[in-house]
Amino acid sequence: MSHITLITGSTLGGAEYVADHLAELLEQDGHSTDIINQANLATLNTESIWLVVCSTHGAGEYPDNFQPFAEQLTSEQPDLSPLQYGIIGLGDRSYDTFCAAAKNIDQLLGSLGANRLGERLEIDVSQDPVPEDPAESWLETWKNHLAG
Ligand SMILES: Cc1cc2nc3c(=O)[nH]c(=O)nc-3n(C[C@H](O)[C@H](O)[C@H](O)COP(=O)(O)O)c2cc1C
Repeated sequence: MSHITLITGSTLGGAEYVADHLAELLEQDGHSTDIINQANLATLNTESIWLVVCSTHGAGEYPDNFQPFAEQLTSEQPDLSPLQYGIIGLGDRSYDTFCAAAKNIDQLLGSLGANRLGERLEIDVSQDPVPEDPAESWLETWKNHLAG
C-alpha cells in the first residue's frame, strides 16, 4: 500500500472537495493519505507520491493558496527525481487559459525531475459541474500505478 499526499490549489473550494473525495476513495482501498491546502516545500516529503489537485484563476494563474509553493519550487529548484506525482486540473474551457495552472505545475514538476504517474486530468467544470465524477473515473486508472 502507498501513502499519497494530496496537495490542493483552490480559490472557491472545488479542488479541495475533489481532493477530499479522492482521499476517501484511496483510504477505502487501504492506502493512507494526507491533504495539504497550503503546501510548503520545507515540510513536504519529496521521496513520496503527491496528487496535485489545482484549479486555475485570474488569467491562467495559480490559486492564492498555491502560488507561494510554485514560487518555492521555481526559486529553490529542488531535485525531485525521487518523487512520483499525479495531477488533476479544474478549469473552464471558456477561458483561453484552460487549466493553465495544472499544465504549468505539471511542467514545473517534470522539469525538476519528478515522474508523473499516468496522464494529467483536466476537468472542464462547464461540462462537468460535479468534478468529483470525472476525478473518480480517472482515479480508477491512476491507482493502478500505486503499490498494493
Ligand atoms: C475569476 C475567475 C477566473 C478564472 N480563470 C480561469 C482560467 O484562467 N482558466 C480556467 O481554466 N478556469 C478559470 N476559472 C474557472 C475555475 O478554475 C473553476 O471554476 C474551478 O472549478 C474553480 O475551482 P476552485 O473552486 O477549486 O477554485 C476561473 C474562475 C473564476 C471565478
